[in-house]
Amino acid sequence: MSKKIGILTGGGDCPGLNAVIRGVVKSAIIRHGWQVIGIEDGFDGLLDLNKCRPLGLESVRGILPRGGTILGTTNRGNPFDYPVEQNGKVVHVDYSDKVVENVRQLGIEALIAVGGEGSLKIALELSRKGVQVVGVPKTIDNDLRETDFTFGYNTALETATDALDKLHTTAESHHRVMILEVMGRYAGWIALESGIAGGADVILIPEIPFDFEKVCASVMERSARGSHFSIIVAAEGAFPKGGGRVVIKTADERSTIERLGGIGQYVAQQIGQCLEMDVRVTVLGHLQRGGSPTTFDRALGSRFGTKAVQMVADGEFGRMACLRSRSILSVPIEDATRDLKLVDPDGEIVRAAEDLGIMLGR
Ligand code: F6P
Repeated sequence: MSKKIGILTGGGDCPGLNAVIRGVVKSAIIRHGWQVIGIEDGFDGLLDLNKCRPLGLESVRGILPRGGTILGTTNRGNPFDYPVEQNGKVVHVDYSDKVVENVRQLGIEALIAVGGEGSLKIALELSRKGVQVVGVPKTIDNDLRETDFTFGYNTALETATDALDKLHTTAESHHRVMILEVMGRYAGWIALESGIAGGADVILIPEIPFDFEKVCASVMERSARGSHFSIIVAAEGAFPKGGGRVVIKTADERSTIERLGGIGQYVAQQIGQCLEMDVRVTVLGHLQRGGSPTTFDRALGSRFGTKAVQMVADGEFGRMACLRSRSILSVPIEDATRDLKLVDPDGEIVRAAEDLGIMLGR
């Protein structure tokens, strides 16, 4: 029987979103003969019917290698707690009934929400209000539970590792300490795995508060051994023992999310006081979120997209597609969003890094 389904992409963008959209549209049309409605700019699109448009096979032609999302996205504005300006003040309004009503008006029987923890929590709340929701896990940070990987992470890792390879040659030529600041607000996966792959000497992650003296001592020891350069990778959310995260912009009434950034510069200043060596900082920033997805992310995104459609066909609502070993399965969104998947400071990957002689600031 023909169905109409909706798809939206929420939260920060990442490579592979278009692969998921294409996977959803192609399998919905080719295998099931359904109609697909694309919703622009995340859940915001469900507050404005002009932002909802049919997606046909022609809409997804050529998008597989493209970064970003053809639907647009936002990491601000939760429909359950939406900031609006009233008489010069920002107040928060619950628009969720309007979202549910618009889903009904559009004739959408199931909504596929592609997002990270924040967007999937909104999707879960909507499912509690009766919307039939299926989730797809996205984030370059790889911090969503219940899936081995989120799509987007592999591309971000490649970008970070490539940056480390490039920093190595110039660090060595100039006998410098090079610090690379990468994304990773609460979870240090990008820093840890790119650091291992890119041969870093020091890796600083949010899960292991670091000790400046130990970082300095390890760079000095390396220099004494004849390696007159060092590479430090710092996740944006890393912080020193007894200190806090380095914040560019604190949360306000419009956004509960603080903007992080500056840990690289902060580490440079501090270690500059104990080292004779020249220190330089590179902030990789949104380069990690852009560009063409890797083969891994294209394949994973495509498989997640087709799985999400199959989950709709099977009535698996309130659940999220996930990767376990090499299989695509599904899990309750509630389990996936209960808390974040962080690096275990005593786990195998951290131990492997330390066995390789990499210093984790402790
Ligand atoms: O969640 C993904 C992420 O890339 C974080 O690592 C980072 O802190 C955040 O998004 C940056 O968001 P924005 O695009 O709002 O600066």
